[in-house]
Amino acid sequence: MARRVEPKSPAELDKMRQAGRIAARVLVELGKLVRPGVSTKDLDRAAERMIREAGAVPTFLGYRGYPASICASLNEEVVHGIPAAKRVLRDGDIVSLDLAATFQGFVGDTAATFAVGTISGEDRRLMDVTVASLERGIERMRAGNRLGDVSNAVQVCAEAAGFGVVRDYVGHGIGRQMHEEPAVANYGTAGTGLRLEVGMTLALEPMITAGSWKTKVLPDGWTVATQDGSRSAHFEHTVALTEAGPEILTKGF
Ligand code: MF3
Ligand code: CO
Ligand code: CO
Repeated sequence: MARRVEPKSPAELDKMRQAGRIAARVLVELGKLVRPGVSTKDLDRAAERMIREAGAVPTFLGYRGYPASICASLNEEVVHGIPAAKRVLRDGDIVSLDLAATFQGFVGDTAATFAVGTISGEDRRLMDVTVASLERGIERMRAGNRLGDVSNAVQVCAEAAGFGVVRDYVGHGIGRQMHEEPAVANYGTAGTGLRLEVGMTLALEPMITAGSWKTKVLPDGWTVATQDGSRSAHFEHTVALTEAGPEILTKGF
């Protein structure tokens, strides 16, 4: 079988590190702006400004016609929420912010869910378990392991906590393009799938729901929401597989 996943060279990895660092910093700074009364459009503007000030380009803007620099998905929205001036954050909301930066031809992609004001204990648990499932997946990103080991680790962590694992959207390889081979599902069977090699760069991004994993696309053609209205959390890191093991390129949260 032809190899479709070309590992990055050390020079390419260095550029990935720089792109990842920019994306991570912008996400941290955006998180500091999250509070009741702020609109998702405000956050989009701030993100675009920070990405450009860093000498990078907002990867999402114009991607397949996407009209903004970030995705901002509120509560039962899972991913791909379009920023809007009328979407104003309110106390008790959770908001997932996803962004990518292209720097010297390479992409860093990262996302996190933030609390707006005071949130419920169950929403806090959903967010904590989603971070933990991402961490469990990253830990399995070692040379010789298989992609199914990563996917399974994410799934087991989330489902053991009683949460749903979104099936319709997945993580991905990343490099010169935001979305490269392979697809990185958040569910799967350990010991199966692509064998992992040093130099591979993957975006792991569990999308976890408080209820059923089933999703629908809203009439705007972009926003993905849970079918049952349950809340959803999303955390994403761009990760390189190195000789020393997994290296998170978007460390911030
Ligand atoms: N960055 C998202 C992902 O994590 C994809 C966003 S698609 C866009 O893969 F069209 F909104 F840019
Ligand atoms: Co992303
Ligand atoms: Co991604």
